Amino acid sequence: MPHESRQEFKVTGGPALRCKGWRQEGLLRLLENVLAVGENPKDLVVYAALGKAARDWPSYRRIVETLRTMDESETLVVQSGKPIGLLRTHARAPIVVMANCNIVGQWANAETFYDLEQKGLICWGGLTAGDWQYIGSQGVIQGTYEILSRIAERHFGGSLAGRFVLTAGLGGMGGAQPLAGRMAGAAILCIEVDEARIVKRIENGYLDASAADLDIALGMIRQAQSSGRALSVGLCGNAAEIYPALVARGIVPDVVTDQTSAHDLLYGYVPPGLSLDAVRRLRSEDPKRLMAESRAAIVRHVEAMLAFRRAGAVVFDNGNLIRTQAREGGVADAFDIPIFTEAFLRPLFCRAIGPFRWIALSNDPADIAAIDDLVLALFPDNRIVTNWIRLARDAVPFEGLPARIAWLGHGERTALALAVNRMVAEGRLAGPVAFTRDHLDAGAMAHPNIMTERMRDGSDAIADWPLLNAMITCSSQADLVAIHSGGGGYAGYMTSAGVTLIADGTPAAEERLRLTLDNDTSLGVMRYADAGYDEAIDEASRKGIAHFPGGGA
Ligand SMILES: NC(=O)c1ccc[n+]([C@@H]2O[C@H](COP(=O)([O-])OP(=O)(O)OC[C@H]3O[C@@H](n4cnc5c(N)ncnc54)[C@H](O)[C@@H]3O)[C@@H](O)[C@H]2O)c1
Repeated sequence: MPHESRQEFKVTGGPALRCKGWRQEGLLRLLENVLAVGENPKDLVVYAALGKAARDWPSYRRIVETLRTMDESETLVVQSGKPIGLLRTHARAPIVVMANCNIVGQWANAETFYDLEQKGLICWGGLTAGDWQYIGSQGVIQGTYEILSRIAERHFGGSLAGRFVLTAGLGGMGGAQPLAGRMAGAAILCIEVDEARIVKRIENGYLDASAADLDIALGMIRQAQSSGRALSVGLCGNAAEIYPALVARGIVPDVVTDQTSAHDLLYGYVPPGLSLDAVRRLRSEDPKRLMAESRAAIVRHVEAMLAFRRAGAVVFDNGNLIRTQAREGGVADAFDIPIFTEAFLRPLFCRAIGPFRWIALSNDPADIAAIDDLVLALFPDNRIVTNWIRLARDAVPFEGLPARIAWLGHGERTALALAVNRMVAEGRLAGPVAFTRDHLDAGAMAHPNIMTERMRDGSDAIADWPLLNAMITCSSQADLVAIHSGGGGYAGYMTSAGVTLIADGTPAAEERLRLTLDNDTSLGVMRYADAGYDEAIDEASRKGIAHFPGGGA
């Protein structure tokens, strides 16, 4: 299949419309953006090993063509990255609706997914790839930073200065770790098996330096620790070898996690002893052997993480299913390692405070700078967000269209988006702004080994919430709504919903933003209130969210 060259995946900015309106143009720019900043655009892969922007190149081209020619009173229907048709709806309906990688329960496993994928019947959209919301490594950076900050508060007297953080994986999302670690003040060592990823992170400003071998890396970390200097170091190597080697040497980092693509034994995790080319060959020649080797390596990797934990390190799972893979490989105590959401972020999700994003469709960084100022003016008492914006505006480089992520909650998101829409209307920004949020958000995800692990009422695996979320955002006039389930190693593990809005300065956009954002976060608060969390019940009553306690009896 011929593919486009990377050259063609530049972002488009400026005031000129190629579509019949900004709603369509905004979504088209976001689609182009996820490939421009993605990990492997020639295969349409955006991040997480296999998370794709479209099913195949004909699908991609048809989506682009449709967005360019459709009216706003039509809705484009996308099924697992393939455009299925264009329906006549009305100007208040979404421009695009999507269902990506939803497989019926009994069949939702990695083998069925790979089979369907190879037949060209399905593709996995990750969380933000298939619905064109990915903004580069920045997308998870505040989440990682907040986790490290909570760890600093809870375990290290409020600061990670002089502390050693060990992690692995410098891919699309994992690439945020070194910068988040440095922003939190730590000396962070990142193990990555693919040298090219280390080079990419240094080039885009997310990683400070690379080390030629483990001794040099440890020397750099020790030096940074002793002077209390924040530093990120990349080391090319395999985590399944280096973590156990550190254990054998008796070295105990202060904090340990991992963000390799461990969720996928075939396309993600790389076992030691094989070159990257050999891994690529084995995928087609002997997938069973590759998966077995990946599983065995993950067992060693997680056993080392457990050894660090026993020796006193703060160890957590960063959302890549590594504990699940290890448990299936026989590590009975893999789940002694806590998941980051339950351990550190659930109190925020109870108040629907989560990763909210905005993207300057003009491609003008000055628009993001102006919105940074607006956020600081609108929420002066919100310590989390003001601290973050001050840090991020200096430290976080843009990839692709300029964008910002900040953890905001119910009411705050709406207030910000409406103020931005007014700025667009008054010509105070160079162009419209897109708003999205991560699927890992209060009312939008069921993911029993990540987002909803150990919910207070035991409702971990109930996927009604993301489905309700998608229905609510559709009825609230969002511009794009997507329902995703897991693919590859995540098949059968999760369901989530995504939403995108284009603030083009019109009164119609004002209504869409207000309804969608208010209802999205209201549902998030309701989800946690319903599960019995006091913070959510309190938030619902403080903010007038019409939740029916006890089912409205
Ligand atoms: N915490 C969250 O909220 C969150 C968010 C997004 C993604 N994730 C998960 O994080 C994981 C990573 O996502 P990504 O987008 O960075 O994936 P990616 O595929 O872009 O990158 C994974 C990286 O891990 C490296 N790697 C694989 N095996 C290795 C090994 N044994 N030792 C060292 N390096 C190894 C790969 O070379 C690659 O660079 C995925 O499982 C993803 O689903 C979690």
